[in-house]
Order: sequence, then C-alpha cells, then structure tokens
Amino acid sequence: MVVVSGTKLADELGTSRSAVWGFVQQLRSMGVQIAGHPATGYQLKSVPDLLLPEFVKPLAKGTIFAERLHHYFRVGSTNAEAMNAAARGEPEGSVFIAEEQTAGRGRGVHSWLSEKSAGIYCSVVLRPQVAPAETLAISLAAGLAVRAAVQEVTSLVADLRWPNDVLLAGKKFCGILIEMNAEPTRVRYLVLGIGLNVNQSCFPKGLEQEATSLRLESARTWSRVELAAALLKSLHREYSALAPSRTSAHTAIAQIIRRFEEASSWARGRRVRVEEDGGYEGVTEGLDASGFLRVRTASGIRRVISGGVRGIGN
Ligand code: BTN
Repeated sequence: MVVVSGTKLADELGTSRSAVWGFVQQLRSMGVQIAGHPATGYQLKSVPDLLLPEFVKPLAKGTIFAERLHHYFRVGSTNAEAMNAAARGEPEGSVFIAEEQTAGRGRGVHSWLSEKSAGIYCSVVLRPQVAPAETLAISLAAGLAVRAAVQEVTSLVADLRWPNDVLLAGKKFCGILIEMNAEPTRVRYLVLGIGLNVNQSCFPKGLEQEATSLRLESARTWSRVELAAALLKSLHREYSALAPSRTSAHTAIAQIIRRFEEASSWARGRRVRVEEDGGYEGVTEGLDASGFLRVRTASGIRRVISGGVRGIGN
C-alpha cells in the first residue's frame, strides 16, 4: 500500500498540511479508512460502500436516473425530501438516496427502520402522464424491478406480496411507498420510495419474525452501490415500458399484471387476512384488469383497494 506524505498531498491540492489533516478527518468520519497522520504520511486502507453519486451515477448511465442524484448521510425521510423538491419543480428522474433515515416512512401508519449504511433508502421523482388510479401499475412494476435487480446481483429469487412487498423465505426485505400530488384525473408528480434491507445482520425483537435482509438470506454481504445501480437500471426499464404512449398503455399495464401474477406466490390460492374495512379473510384469486387484488370471501369476490394482506395458516 502506498504512503503519501501530507506535504505532497498539500502541494497537489494547493493547500496547507493542516487543511489536508482536516480533509482526512472528514473522510474518516464518513467511514473511509486512512492510516497515518501528518508526520508519517497517509495510507488509504479501504473505501466504504457508500451510495455516493460519484459511484452510483456512472453505473446508472443511460437511464433517466443518472442526471440528478442527491445523497444524504443522514436525513429524516428521502420520500419527504423528494416530495418537497418535486413541489419546487425537481425534474423527473431525480434520485434522493440516504445512508440513514431518522424518520423513514412506511405504508399506512408504519415507519421504516433505516439502519446506517446497511440498506438502500432511495426515492425517485416521476412525472407520469396518468390518472391517479393508474399509478397502481407503477407500484406493481416497481416490485418487479426490485425483484429483477436483486436476482441479477445476488441470484436470489424473491417473492412479491401485493401490492409491492418483496420477500425472501416468507420475510420482507424490501418495501415500496408511493406518494403523490394529483388532481382527480392527472398526477402532477409522484415519489417512488424504496427501502431495501441489504447488509443488516439482525432486526429488533418484534420485527425479526417478519423482516429479513439479503445478507441474512445468503450468509454474505453485498455491495450496496452495485445493487442501487442495478435497481435504478431495472426501474428505468420497467418505467419506460409502462409509459411509451397512451395507445399502448393498456397493453403495458396488462403485461405488468400478468408478470406480477407469475412472480407472486401470493396472487392466487393464498388464504389471507386483508387489512382493510376493519379486516376480513379470504383466498386470493388473481389481480383484476386495473391491478387490484381479488379475494374470494364467504360473501363473494372482494377487491383489495388500499390495505395490505397477511398470510394465515400457510
Ligand atoms: C412499506 O411500508 O413497505 C414501505 C416502506 C418504504 C420505505 C422507503 S425507504 C426510502 C423511502 N423513504 C421513506 O421515508 N420511505 C421510503
């Protein structure tokens, strides 16, 4: 390993040795391992797996997500940041990504545990030309995109639970939250937030029965940079297929629904409890033409509109 003196670094950067020391301390606080001090010179030991734009952007080149990537070491919620920015005119394709969230939002009343540098906490701004009801297809497509990216990088084949939980061995490792600003017939902008558990080695009591990470399911750690780039590329593929032109929109939605049904062991024949209308039980019977889950109950077929589903007895 090369040792570079503080004086040489200061000369190269056109600054003082004490300023170099300041930079080194700053890099160390970000997780970059640098040995040495001003008297002995510095030695770079390892660069951490940080989701910095410098690393992610080149890998996401050619997608709508490679232009504007906002990175946070610590933030309340990337969805909140992206929604605020979108309200101020942030363009489609902007990405908000964090190492840690202190107020990660989940669906409904839930929060999203966002341990520092263990997962991918990412939100993208989209401006699809669709009505609010049609965004369900985007949400289903996002689940398919996560599944494809995870399979590409890790070879793990994930399951999908309507509308867009992504599971391994029956436990959730990825959740997707769509928030939007819309008129009754037109979406102004939409934020698609993805929380992906990558290198978590454990979860708090109460969560460990339902939550997992890629690391826990494969007994090894994974590069978050590689996964984040694969995810953005896969999202780009799914989103472009969905929004080519209004004439083919129906065909594209029908294809998403068919692919979701194929990829999800939950789409048909699963006994579930639906967390909606005070809760009810039934057996899943595929998705309807708009992407809503159909559940056969004692009183007939019901469509799940907003709630999630939980498995019972299987
Ligand atoms: C769910 O409840 O399943 C959805 C979880 C979504 C979590 C992600 S993490 C990145 C983005 N920012 C948030 O505050 N939430 C989403």
